[in-house]
Amino acid sequence: MYRIVEREDLTPEIHLFRIDAPAVARKALPGQFVILRVHEKGERIPLTIADYDRDSGFVTVVFMEAGKTTQELACLKAGDSLANFVGPLGIPTEVEKFGTVVCVSGGFAAAIVVPVARAMKAAGNKVISIMGARCKDLLFWGDRMEAASHELIIVTDDGTCGRKALVTEPLKELLEREKVDRVIAIGPTIMMKFCAKTTQPFGVKTIVSLNPIMLDGTGMCGVCRVSVGEATKFACVDGPDFDGHLVNWDQLIARRCIYLEEESCSLEAWKDHVCQRA
Ligand SMILES: Cc1cc2nc3c(=O)[nH]c(=O)nc-3n(C[C@H](O)[C@H](O)[C@H](O)COP(=O)(O)OP(=O)(O)OC[C@H]3O[C@@H](n4cnc5c(N)ncnc54)[C@H](O)[C@@H]3O)c2cc1C
Ligand code: FES
Repeated sequence: MYRIVEREDLTPEIHLFRIDAPAVARKALPGQFVILRVHEKGERIPLTIADYDRDSGFVTVVFMEAGKTTQELACLKAGDSLANFVGPLGIPTEVEKFGTVVCVSGGFAAAIVVPVARAMKAAGNKVISIMGARCKDLLFWGDRMEAASHELIIVTDDGTCGRKALVTEPLKELLEREKVDRVIAIGPTIMMKFCAKTTQPFGVKTIVSLNPIMLDGTGMCGVCRVSVGEATKFACVDGPDFDGHLVNWDQLIARRCIYLEEESCSLEAWKDHVCQRA
C-alpha cells in the first residue's frame, strides 16, 4: 500500500498528492510517469511525476478530475493509501543545453512542466515559459514556474489573469522575436497539436508529452499505440515524449474517444453507488 502523506487542492478540480513511494522516488526523472490503482478492483491510470524527493522517498502527482477514477481518487485524503503505484515508467524528458527553450503548459500540466523547466534552466538554457488556463481559478504554481524560468508569460482564455489569449499567440510572437532552439508543449491534446502546428513553419523542434489511453504501461497490451512519422510507437515505453511535428494528431484524438460511452456509464454507476451509500 502507498500512503498519501499530503493532499493539497490546487484548484477545486486539480489536486496534489504526495505519496510515500521510496522505490519510485529513488529513480524518478522529469517526464516520467506512474500507473496507479486506487484500490484492488480499480482501473489503472497513468499520472506524470510532478516532483520527487529521494531523501524522504515522497513522490508528488497532480491530477485533474476527468472521470470515474480521478473523481474516486479525489475522495481520498492524507493518511489514506493507494493499492498500487508503479513506476517510474516511460523515457525521461531529454534535458541538455539547447540554448533558448520555450516551455508551454496548459491547465493541470503546469505541474508537469515546472520540473522540466527547472531542469532545463539548471542545464544552462534560457527558459521562457508560457502558462495557459481557461480562467484565473484554474491557474496554479505561477510562482514556481517563474522561479524555474527567465521569463514567464501567463494567458487565460477569458482574460481573468495575464493576457486574454491562447498559448499559441505568445508562442508565435516569441518565435518571431528571437531564435528559439526547442519548444516543450504539455497539456490537452488539442493544445499540443496547435503548438506543434505553430512551431512547424519556424522549424523549431517541439516535444510533446502524449496522453493516449494506457493499460499495462509496459509495452505489452498495445493500447497506447500512436503513429509518429512512419512508425507505430507505444507511448508508455517509447514516450510519452515525442516530436510533435511527426505525431498523427487526428488518429490520437480519435483513439482517445473510443471508450467515451463506457467511461460515462462507469462514472454514472459509481456516482449512483456513492449516493446510495451516503
Ligand atoms: C503518460 C500519461 C500521463 C498523464 N499524466 C496526467 C497527470 O499528471 N495529471 C492528470 O490529471 N492526468 C494525467 N493523464 C491523464 C489521466 O491518466 C486521465 O485523465 C485518467 O486516466 C482519466 O481517468 P478517469 O477514469 O478519471 O476518466 P475517464 O472517464 O476514464 O476518461 C476521461 C478522459 O480521460 C481519458 N483517459 C481515460 N483513461 C485513460 C488512460 N488510462 N490514460 C490516459 N487517458 C485516459 C479519456 O480519453 C477521456 O477523455 C496522463 C495520461 C498519460 C497517458
Ligand atoms: S499501455 Fe500497454 S503497451 Fe502501452
